[in-house]
Formats: sequence, structure tokens, C-alpha cells
Amino acid sequence: MKIGVFDSGVGGKSVANAISRALPQHQVIFMMDSAHFPYATKTPQEIHGYVVPILTDLVGQGCEVIVIACNTVSTNLIDELRETLPVPLIAMEPMVKPAAEQTKSKVIVVCATPTTLASPRYQWLKDTYASGIKVLEPDCSNWSYMIETNQIDRQKIHDQIDQACQAGADMIVLGCTHYHWIEDIITEVVQGRAQVIQPEQPVIEQLKKVMASL
Ligand code: DGL
Repeated sequence: MKIGVFDSGVGGKSVANAISRALPQHQVIFMMDSAHFPYATKTPQEIHGYVVPILTDLVGQGCEVIVIACNTVSTNLIDELRETLPVPLIAMEPMVKPAAEQTKSKVIVVCATPTTLASPRYQWLKDTYASGIKVLEPDCSNWSYMIETNQIDRQKIHDQIDQACQAGADMIVLGCTHYHWIEDIITEVVQGRAQVIQPEQPVIEQLKKVMASL
């Protein structure tokens, strides 16, 4: 089966690689939107116009299922996209629920793009699963850009994550697929004070279920 994976940039590549490793008998076709990267601060309307032709292209290439390996797109547009595209779409969104369930300190960190943090879906996740929990949202507005261009400011990441740990956070949610590439840097800063989580494995499980139903 052909599996499409889409992101604005290299974040989705980490997800595509993980899917290829987990499902080597299937073909993964990864597409990104280099022309319009980053999506981090763009409006959902702008992003919608960029995404639809690329997803349509993936369907045209024979993909029977598409993973939207972009939290910014998933949290803002998944319902509209599901209405438009003729194949199942698998979304990725910040793991607020598992973080809220597992925190002992009742302080969690969500690292995500400004457009993800501004989405009604993210607000819903917090209202539904994280009431009574302090959710810290450090300014990650240029993180995807620095990762895409390989200009990673380790000091900046260190300072933001360290500050969150000092504020008592014991769960760190990577709510943008670009940040999967710096998971080890973040884990190093954390030094056991918090658990770092991201949704690659749950998404692969969901993908397997959807594929089995096709
Ligand atoms: N990788 C994308 C995400 O998961 C967004 C990166 C960007 O375009 O700024 O949200």
C-alpha cells in the first residue's frame, strides 16, 4: 500500500522515517511544502490553500491513506480536509491528554507553533483534559525555522526548557514534528526532571488500524 506523509518541512521526514521502519513492506511517499515553509505563524486560511493541492497530489500518486505529520495543519484544518480529500487522513496533535494523565506535579509544558497554540482544537484539548493543570507554553515561534535551516540555538532551547523544569514541569509535549529532531537535546537539558513525549508511536498504531480497515 502507498502511504502519504505530509508536512510543511523536515518535521514530517522524522515521522515518515519512523513509519518506514515500522511498516517496511509498504511504500511511504513524503511530501513537504518548501515553497511556503514555515507554517508556524501563518493563518489557517493561508495554510489551507497551500495544503490541498499537495494532498491532492499524494492521492493522485496512489496513496490510500495520508498522515498529516504537522500539528499546525491537523489542529486547525483536519475537519475541512477530511471533507475534501477522498482518503482517510491521520492527524497529529499535541499529546495534552497523556501528559495531563501522567503528570505528578500538575505542571506540563507544550512546545508548539503559535498557530497550533491559537487553534480551537488545542484550546479544546486543554479544556477537556487539562483543567486544574498548569500548562506552560514557551515561545517556540522560530524553533521550526531554526531546525529546518539547521541553525539550532542550543542555548535558547536550553534556557526555555530549563526554565520550564524549574517551574515544576514534569511532562514536556513536543507538539510540532520539527521538534522530534531535537528530542535528544531536550532530553539532555531535562536531566530526568521531566518526561519528553511525542506522538510518533501512537500515530503508527492508528495508521495500522486504518490500513487494516481499508
Ligand atoms: N512541523 C509542523 C508542525 O508539526 C510545523 C512547522 C512549521 O511549518 O512551522 O506543527
